[in-house]
Amino acid sequence: LWTMHNFAQEQIEAIKEQVGDRRVLCALSGGVDSSVAATLVHQAIGDKLTCIFVDHGLLRKDEGDQVEAIFKNRFHMNFIRVNCEDRFLGKLAGVSDPEQKRKIIGTEFIRVFEEESGKLNDIDFLLQGTIYPDVIESGTKNAAVIKSHHNVGGLPDDVDFELIEPLRNLFKDEVRAVGEEIGLDHDLVWRQPFPGPGLAIRVMGEVTKEKLDILKEADFVFRDEIAKAGLDEEIWQYFAVLPGNRSVGVMGDERTYDYTIGLRAVTSVDGMTSDWARIPYDVLESISTRIVNEVKHVSRIVYDITSKPPSTIEWE
Ligand code: XMP
Repeated sequence: LWTMHNFAQEQIEAIKEQVGDRRVLCALSGGVDSSVAATLVHQAIGDKLTCIFVDHGLLRKDEGDQVEAIFKNRFHMNFIRVNCEDRFLGKLAGVSDPEQKRKIIGTEFIRVFEEESGKLNDIDFLLQGTIYPDVIESGTKNAAVIKSHHNVGGLPDDVDFELIEPLRNLFKDEVRAVGEEIGLDHDLVWRQPFPGPGLAIRVMGEVTKEKLDILKEADFVFRDEIAKAGLDEEIWQYFAVLPGNRSVGVMGDERTYDYTIGLRAVTSVDGMTSDWARIPYDVLESISTRIVNEVKHVSRIVYDITSKPPSTIEWE
């Protein structure tokens, strides 16, 4: 009988055998795949695993701290957090083309990872959270590249390490099941997809610290209200975007000139096509009211009602 329990136990034994007394390095993003891979390997070899978490500052509100709380404080992994928001914002300054932003973030991520891993000695293996759909995808060439889909965590091919890819034969749902089996929280394992370049592709045009902070707060309120309304399991992906233009508003007797926030929420099976989620009007109303009340410099909220195609899920 092939169960997730058996799978996890077999993998743990196999990894123990393969690694022996040697050391493994992992680029942990906090996403489902790398989290499950790291936890599995940690259960096999404990302190012989070191995780590097590159916090590029483009994650959602409090997300970096949550990743640290789980893997460092709860699981007691060898966990290195590299805070480099300023570095990434510096590289992104003045850049407004979405593909250019993806490229910069992907490249910079690899640089930071190389710098940090260069400080460690005796690493023999690199752990990757590759799953079966990644294996298939990299074997096919897409003629028309719509978006380059830089998956931060995609590392250079020319590394000296031997690869460990324990999830290589699993589909996403199986990865989630293994994650729950080995003790990861339901919320982490079932979290919605989040793009590698993070909030940089949800701030249209140039990414600045000001815009990023506004977006983080608005997105936080949106997610909070969706969870409170009990819609978080039925909507496939939901997030806020910051189009970057400003519009005139009125607050008390004062004229304001502040940002617009776009709300995106979609139902989908695999992200290839999607429909906009029919969020009830009263929920939309409380989201809108809360964002304009709680987030400074936001005076207008719009809801995206386009399907994919012709739209894409992300705005960039
Ligand atoms: P689109 O916007 O192309 O998104 O309809 C489809 C799915 O892919 C995610 N996405 C990305 N994921 N790196 C990623 O790892 C990227 O550059 C990227 N761009 C989009 C998007 O969130 C959705 O789930």
